[in-house]
Amino acid sequence: MSENINYPYIVDYLRSILPARDGLLAEIEEKSKQEESYVPIAEPETAQLLRVMARLSGGGDFLEIGTGCAYSSIVLARETSGTVTTIERYSKAAGFARENIEKAGLSDRITLLEGEASEILPSLEGEYSLVFLDAAKGQYPAFLPHILRLLKAGGILISDNVLYKGMTAERSLLIRRKITIVKRLRIYLKTLYETEGLTTCVLPLGDGVAISVKGDKNA
Ligand SMILES: C[S@@+](CC[C@H](N)C(=O)[O-])C[C@H]1O[C@@H](n2cnc3c(N)ncnc32)[C@H](O)[C@@H]1O
Repeated sequence: MSENINYPYIVDYLRSILPARDGLLAEIEEKSKQEESYVPIAEPETAQLLRVMARLSGGGDFLEIGTGCAYSSIVLARETSGTVTTIERYSKAAGFARENIEKAGLSDRITLLEGEASEILPSLEGEYSLVFLDAAKGQYPAFLPHILRLLKAGGILISDNVLYKGMTAERSLLIRRKITIVKRLRIYLKTLYETEGLTTCVLPLGDGVAISVKGDKNA
């Protein structure tokens, strides 16, 4: 879980009212908090947003870029009867992911594609009703054309960490080595807002989440 951009009392309150997670998700959350070598996962309140968006998408097939240990892949797969295709380039994370997908009994509906998303995305075909983008933040602008091609009309794109510990919004928080990433995140958000046929809002939830819907409003 990454650092949160909200007041601690707001985060604590939001987390205190979330429905309890089952054994496996609770175990992954605990590992991600306690074990430095484990993979970061979406904040629990962001995971709850994923559940809501998955329901609003009407189900169908989902795509995720940035599997980590498959916490969010499992959350998404449980909200649809369709499939989840998920991409991960870090072999250690892919190993944790396979283990968790199997423990969740979801090996038949979650397909893990191991490799670099910029190489895998061009080869993907099909229509996804929801895309969850949670990979290297500096690559978001480069991934967008592929995502728009793969997202069906009416489909939902959820982009995580777009406020990036507040750095996207506030210059004084900016760490020198993150300057390029933050510049790209700003370009990404501007592009989301300006892309014709895409309607976007940014929520200051978790580490900042952009929600975009693809579709022609005159259709
Ligand atoms: C924050 S973690 C994903 C967490 C996961 N979505 C969850 O909530 O359980 C980001 C993951 O994206 C992977 N990643 C980053 N950039 C990538 C890329 N270009 N291609 C494939 N995987 C990438 C990282 O290795 C890392 O495991």
